[in-house]
Amino acid sequence: MEMLYRGIAELVTCRGGVRRGRAMQDAGVVKDGAFLVQDGVIERVGTRGELEKGYRGEAYDCGGALVTPGFVDSHTHLVFGGERAEEFGWRLRGDSYLSIMERGGGIVKTVDATRKASEGELLARAKKHLANMRRMGVTGVEIKSGYGLESETELKQIAVIGALQKSERMQVVGTFMGAHAIPRGWDADAYIDLCINELLPQAAKTGVCDFADIFVERGAFTAAQAERYLRRARELGFGLKVHSDEMTASGGTELGVKLGAKSADHLLKIRDEDIVRLSKSDTVATVLPLTAFCLGEEYAPARRLIDGGAIVAAGSDFNPGSCCTYNVPLMIALMCIYMKMTVDEVLSALTINGAAACGRERETGSIESGKWADFVIFDCDSRECLPYYTGMNLVRSVFIKGEKTDG
Ligand code: NIG
Ligand code: FE
Repeated sequence: MEMLYRGIAELVTCRGGVRRGRAMQDAGVVKDGAFLVQDGVIERVGTRGELEKGYRGEAYDCGGALVTPGFVDSHTHLVFGGERAEEFGWRLRGDSYLSIMERGGGIVKTVDATRKASEGELLARAKKHLANMRRMGVTGVEIKSGYGLESETELKQIAVIGALQKSERMQVVGTFMGAHAIPRGWDADAYIDLCINELLPQAAKTGVCDFADIFVERGAFTAAQAERYLRRARELGFGLKVHSDEMTASGGTELGVKLGAKSADHLLKIRDEDIVRLSKSDTVATVLPLTAFCLGEEYAPARRLIDGGAIVAAGSDFNPGSCCTYNVPLMIALMCIYMKMTVDEVLSALTINGAAACGRERETGSIESGKWADFVIFDCDSRECLPYYTGMNLVRSVFIKGEKTDG
């Protein structure tokens, strides 16, 4: 089926590939734009005049709206049991995330709840989250395991991610994150050995996860432990990701760049020399503004990363501990107001660069020929409105592979 989308006051295409540094300032905007979709795939993009010439087929009028590529949330932990509202209260009273973790709270609390939950329960909750995300314009999502920390539960989480890959129209990218925390009663090195010998090979066999990730942090894993884990992951065919410099500068970014990781994520406490390293590399620098917001920490130095030439992407980091939200409108506002990113940089980070952080930049993340027709129609006529209507969801309709999704 063929459909011409027109009546687009501002068409943000983000076409022309992954954006690095200054190139992020250009989100590829076409005024009075239009594009043609055939069987869920974008065929042509241009101005309304160009695309209407000689066209006799069906058309969909967007009513003078802003249209952007669908957002790709390249960092989530959205399959988990239970909640940790109590910890949030402790943090409000002054406890730090790391001190709660040192007291035996944090990730391992969610591990207990996730071990108890059935696959069906986890799947039902995950589907709800995905539907909520979609209503905010998300058409692609990365999901990590890491609340099992043992074979059975890691595989249960992976099975849920696999089920979502089949049931959802959205792009769902899986990441194995067995090395998310040190399980109770374990020594970190011994647990890394278990990951290397059992968990990583088992995860690889499922074929669900494109990536392997690790939390390099005080109280979690050292850069040396991460190196052993990531080298094994690479051997098994995983792309690499790293949680680095979230609470303390711990060498994760340097390691990620050295091993050619697809992305290094968080970066709140990144050292100057690592900003330079990351900016010069092909490793995507993924910022997670909602986490900094929820933890009351300083934001990642996105401005310096972009000015240094990095490929910057943005994700939600949705998880039950440090960031129990995936609110895209709020994320956009934080990036503009506090991280001093321009709206075009923000759109680049949330679309094509997010897709790149998931290794899906050839399929989604931009409105250009050959890509899936994953796009969003907004209830406004310009991209400037996105941060201006602060934290408000202006999404009118979301299309995935050319199909309009339900409200
Ligand atoms: O990205 N840093 C490690 N993982 C999450 C937190 C997970 C949790 O607290 O449950 C994060 O912030
Ligand atoms: Fe995370």
